[in-house]
Amino acid sequence: MKFFVDTANLEQIREAQDLGILDGVTTNPSLMAKEGITGEVNVLAHYKAICELVDGDISAEVIGTDFEGMIKEGQALAEIHENIVVKVPMTKDGVTAIRWVTDHDIRTNCTLIFSAGQAILAAKAGATYLSPFIGRIDDMNWDGIELIAQIAEIYTIQGYQTEILAASIRTPLHIVRAAEAGADVVTCPLSSILGLLKHPLTDIGLAQFLADHKKANS
Ligand code: G3P
Repeated sequence: MKFFVDTANLEQIREAQDLGILDGVTTNPSLMAKEGITGEVNVLAHYKAICELVDGDISAEVIGTDFEGMIKEGQALAEIHENIVVKVPMTKDGVTAIRWVTDHDIRTNCTLIFSAGQAILAAKAGATYLSPFIGRIDDMNWDGIELIAQIAEIYTIQGYQTEILAASIRTPLHIVRAAEAGADVVTCPLSSILGLLKHPLTDIGLAQFLADHKKANS
């Protein structure tokens, strides 16, 4: 399973990269706005800076909502770097745009996925990645992980090549459960990735080892 970090914050991207386990980065318009990145020139420059930091797939989202706008933006984003994956929302125009850019050798990440039906359409359109938002499904008292498992089963039965990218991850346990459910990729806040490191018995065990070593060597 690949690990992407879900942020536009360069410091956090660098920290995830330094951990040595990072395979890519995802962003969205909310995450770009959170970092104060505004205006087309700055947005494109920021994506370029991310591509220069991480040698992996970098999802960059279109803002346009109509077919023409999405393919124009998608082409401009794809020109930044070969690792750019154009993120397109699951709408009627979005599906048509995914088909079009895929036919023009541009890779895509179909975002805002909340149902298996949407996942089937995105795969048929040729999306490279599919982003079910598991945390937001959990927010609605539904089980986001169940959707990952359902999509994984369908994709296996049908032989679809689209990779399942579990998004809207909120906790380390989401990462573990997404892995169990068959996600190909998780995109997570840095805090959830770092949360995987933690176990009190590891801390207690290490303290004991160091204490025993100190006693034996003093
Ligand atoms: O990858 C999608 C993600 O950024 C959305 O996360 O926590 O806003 O639902 P969240």
